[in-house]
Amino acid sequence: MKVTARAHTNIALVKYWGKKDQQLIIPQTDSLSLTLDKFYTDTTVEFQPELKHDQLVVDGQVFAPKQMKKVTRVLDRVRELSNQTLYASVNSTNHVPMAAGLASSASAFAALALSASRSAGLTLSGRDLSRLARRGSGSATRSVFGGLVEWHAGHDDQSSYAEPIMENVGFDIEMLAILIDTKQKKISSRGGMQSSVETSPFYPAWREVVAHDMVAMKQAIQNHDIDQIGHLAEENAMRMHALTLSADPDYTYFDGGTIQAMNLIKGLRNQGVNCYYTMDAGPNVKVIYNQRDRERIINALAPSFGVNNLVVAQPGPGAHLL
Ligand code: ADP
Ligand code: DP6
Ligand code: CO
Repeated sequence: MKVTARAHTNIALVKYWGKKDQQLIIPQTDSLSLTLDKFYTDTTVEFQPELKHDQLVVDGQVFAPKQMKKVTRVLDRVRELSNQTLYASVNSTNHVPMAAGLASSASAFAALALSASRSAGLTLSGRDLSRLARRGSGSATRSVFGGLVEWHAGHDDQSSYAEPIMENVGFDIEMLAILIDTKQKKISSRGGMQSSVETSPFYPAWREVVAHDMVAMKQAIQNHDIDQIGHLAEENAMRMHALTLSADPDYTYFDGGTIQAMNLIKGLRNQGVNCYYTMDAGPNVKVIYNQRDRERIINALAPSFGVNNLVVAQPGPGAHLL
């Protein structure tokens, strides 16, 4: 059966940055994110008797076997769960730049989990679907659901899954992506976070930061307090990036444009516009604010980055069939 699914990316407000188990992708800490409407992946899967191996095409490009290990891992798990051994052909289109810190792996593996499981005749619960997506990429665990989502770190395959906190976000939070550089990053999220776990002396403190931020962030969400959500998200992101600067060898995902954007956003804040920044494993900046301030923020950023590089996103839906 040929099945197509769509899943949207998510941006973490409390970041996931490190694994306890690299095979099963069990994270060191909980995390919490917002699924976005503007960025997504569409993936079609068909298990076919005549195939001799799995095939992957992304945006018209054929992936070599060694480039598709993460995809194979998810497909292997689907074969296990559905008790069959057929290979699959996977065709995927990203409506998000790939490997640029805009979470293509989140939308990609959530879309793959849904399309592959359905194609194999499985109807998984949301929780089990998030556990399956997790095998491909950690952040994909959360993209199975829409709105504000929490990933419980857990301690094994069974206990590590995502859960929606607020699927329909009933307040005016918005996230603007500043596209600074959408080329593929040099250090993958996977390699970067593992290096932080193994070499940053600050890693134990990060676990405590996240434990505190999860509680505070959920409280801010319940209060619909966008300023507090933004403040906590910015602080959490900076503490995550401190783990890259403090690794050996040290590295950073920031570039000059990233720092320029941070300064502009701080400048706006000094003028009384409540907006905050967060970055993932890439130079592109995401701004968190109340949608009533959108115009002022765009007007302040457009001269430096160009209006076409500013993408306004709102809370988006969970993974679904097309
Ligand atoms: P990002 O910031 O985009 O999430 P990552 O380094 O986490 O960057 O993940 C990028 C990797 O995810 C790609 O190199 C590729 O292996 C995989 N990927 C991205 N999009 C797809 C897709 N549509 N289908 C399959 N794999 C994908
Ligand atoms: C900075 O989920 O891309 O975006 O699990 O190794 O595939 P793998 O990594 P990935 O890492 C995401 C890191 C982050 C923070 C986050 O999304 O929570
Ligand atoms: Co990723």
